[in-house]
Amino acid sequence: MLEKIKKIKENFLEEIKKTTQEKELVDLRVKYLGKKSEFNQLLKNLKNLSPEEKREIGPFANEVKKEIYTKIEAGITKIEDAENTEKEWIDVTAPGKKIRQGHLHPLSIVQRDIEDIFTTMGFEIADGPEVDSEYYNFDAINIPADHPARDMQDTFWISKEADRKKGEGIVLRTQTSNVQVQYMQKHKPPFRVIAPGRVFRSEATDASHEHTFHQFEALVVGDNVSVANFLYIAETFFSKFFGKKLKIRLRPSYFPFVEPGFEFDISCTNCGGKGCSTCSQTGWIEVGGAGMVHQNVFETAGYERGKYQGFAWGFGLERLAMMKYKINDIRLFHSGDVRFTKQF
Ligand code: DAH
Repeated sequence: MLEKIKKIKENFLEEIKKTTQEKELVDLRVKYLGKKSEFNQLLKNLKNLSPEEKREIGPFANEVKKEIYTKIEAGITKIEDAENTEKEWIDVTAPGKKIRQGHLHPLSIVQRDIEDIFTTMGFEIADGPEVDSEYYNFDAINIPADHPARDMQDTFWISKEADRKKGEGIVLRTQTSNVQVQYMQKHKPPFRVIAPGRVFRSEATDASHEHTFHQFEALVVGDNVSVANFLYIAETFFSKFFGKKLKIRLRPSYFPFVEPGFEFDISCTNCGGKGCSTCSQTGWIEVGGAGMVHQNVFETAGYERGKYQGFAWGFGLERLAMMKYKINDIRLFHSGDVRFTKQF
């Protein structure tokens, strides 16, 4: 029997040398290890042998079986690997595919730029609720219910008529000025803070109006804060933001939460003040509102009347981004059109 097994092994080794195809190896596996194989038939007779013979032949037979098995498997793997290498052939001269990378939305870029500039000037960044009480959005900053200034802004009300009647309405904030009193109730002067964020107005949209947009509020309060401080900070900020020296111009205006109140312009970022189509030949571009914080607002925040002075200002973020990147329609920002956003 030992001889027969040896013979099987020799035959196998001869045959496997000649194989080149996977199929031949599979056939070989059937021939040498299959149920009906000569080898298997032989092994069935093992049980009829004497214990001594069993001890000698058993392990040898197992070894041969194992050898045949591993040789066949190795042969199959080798052939498959060779086939795969052929399939996975890489043309190293083919031009590469451009990888599309994610990036920030232009408004995020502008907001980060603004935050960077203000933080280097010692400002803190505050956050406020987008859904807020009419109290913080209006009453607390000196715009009571019967005040005509309430009608200056078209408000999205999200509470019941009854709550509105009681003065307990909830609104989508119409301005980042809603942060002012909430911040002052939690902080004691002196401080400098900016509050960027999303605001909402129930307005018809066109190239320069959106129902959802972003504002930027700045608030500086202390013992000796004056309009001169505002002018300096504003001039420094806008010059850094646009990367060129700009001037600030104030025009008297009215906002209930400041006294005196201004609208402020910057010298035209395009022509530098000579007059061009960007600034309608005036040399100036209107940017936002500002003023010295009304003492009524300080009082509402819990500060002693007359103890502090401060300035506040607010402007639209989209407007600034439009000026910087020469974008002519505010609706593009929320259009979700990647042809627009991928340009930044
Ligand atoms: N909240 C005003 C608006 O949305 C802008 C504004 C004007 C903010 C004057 C201020 C300010 O802080 O002092 O129209």
